[in-house]
Amino acid sequence: MAPNAAGPNADSAVLSPARDLSRLLVPSMRVHQKSPLKAVMGSPTLEMINMAGGMPSPATFPLVQLQAQVRVPGRGAGEPAATLVLDKERQSGSAEALDTMLQYGDGRGVDSLCSFLRAHTQQAHSPQYADWEVITSCGSTDAIAKVISLFCDAGDALAVERWTFPGALSSLARAGVAPVAVDMDDEGMLPEALDRVCAARSAGGAPLHAVYVVPTGQNPTGATMSLARRKAVYAVAQKHDLVIIEDDPYYFLQIGPAAAAPDSGEAGAAASDGYDSGCDATGGEARDPALLPSLLSLDTDGRVIRLDSFSKILAPNLRCGWITGPAYLLDRVQILNESTILQPSGLSQGVVSKMLNDTWGMDGWNAHLRDLRAEYRLRRDLFVQIAAKHLDGLAEFAVPTAGMFVWLRVRLGTDPGAMQRLLAAMNKVGVMMAPEMPFNSCGAAAGPAAPGPDRYLRAAFALVDTDMYEPALKRLAQSIRTATA
Ligand SMILES: Cc1ncc(COP(=O)(O)O)c(C=O)c1O
Repeated sequence: MAPNAAGPNADSAVLSPARDLSRLLVPSMRVHQKSPLKAVMGSPTLEMINMAGGMPSPATFPLVQLQAQVRVPGRGAGEPAATLVLDKERQSGSAEALDTMLQYGDGRGVDSLCSFLRAHTQQAHSPQYADWEVITSCGSTDAIAKVISLFCDAGDALAVERWTFPGALSSLARAGVAPVAVDMDDEGMLPEALDRVCAARSAGGAPLHAVYVVPTGQNPTGATMSLARRKAVYAVAQKHDLVIIEDDPYYFLQIGPAAAAPDSGEAGAAASDGYDSGCDATGGEARDPALLPSLLSLDTDGRVIRLDSFSKILAPNLRCGWITGPAYLLDRVQILNESTILQPSGLSQGVVSKMLNDTWGMDGWNAHLRDLRAEYRLRRDLFVQIAAKHLDGLAEFAVPTAGMFVWLRVRLGTDPGAMQRLLAAMNKVGVMMAPEMPFNSCGAAAGPAAPGPDRYLRAAFALVDTDMYEPALKRLAQSIRTATA
């Protein structure tokens, strides 16, 4: 992959290239293998009569035009939408013709979408090294599996948060890679715990090569790393020469402290951390000051591979996201894409690319993300207010400043059967929240967090109507009482 040749950092003479971390790759990924067909064919030129590829003729593609009605950020659901059109043969605006979107492509993704994502990445994260790139993914679940496989073979281990995304745990299980649980608090992974875990592994002759973290609105705990925490975790990764897999689908859902706190406006999350938004190193438009800096934006070495997803900020079954990191590492992801998904569906990429590039533009995209945050902030405020009313004495929680999860520490006593009784009681009265078990990175064998009076439930406030919060929390309170009676 040409290292960001046309990318936003192209004029930036001040930035150094990423450090070469190829030594952390599994042996099979250290050699950069091109696709065998491309290695034999080279790159066909325009003048060539290209009969090498197994591509169908676009003349046979039955889709002649695609039209979609798209909501305009800032306008309500009932207000007029904008019309997005993709034509079979004609490029419109920045987006390729439909035929191009629907034809086989390489494992990097549709060009116009990648260009938008580069511009977005420059604005949102201002990466601090020169040769970063983006590549589209079929969503972060797939991306997690691919990126793990770059750094871990079967029998290896990977550091993860004590409670973590079950999709990541399944990927590790399938790959035969052991999760190494790192303790957390209300700000997510504890740097000193990561340091301890890494030191112990190195002393045992099996150093870790990578750590997987969800730094913002963590799943399941809702924890968001402060800027100081992000810097400390990054420093530990540097000390132990770890790659950081930054899985951050809730990054743009940073909503600051709860409404009860004075001045809980958008700037809350970042400003409360004393973060100075600073300037984009290339002189471009700066990052939104409402958002904490990502680990990618703190990364001077090129050791963060960042996973973004459209799932929570456009729609999950677009199955589309993107990966950002050093170009030479994304070349390896491209190889993996070319033997699995090739790239996300051209229809998904086409609609997203046209919408972002031409219908919304960068300003509209940022306005959409702000609208989303306003919606999530309202929901979060209402949910925690009602939860505080009904769960007093029964459960405790930290108010999340990002994402969609509230991690309830439920007072269930020491009886090991209490969680099962609670779930049965909840089932009976008609409310469900996710119990702690699938998020447990210590494995089922380790049982609950620690023998003691607490068990956890993850409540997700994004899906149900807000007028369901009150009955849901009343039913939960009733169920806790039943389970502990
Ligand atoms: C931390 C985390 N990563 C990844 C995903 C899945 O993302 P995608 O839909 O892009 O596969 C989720 C979804 O719940 C998540 O919470």
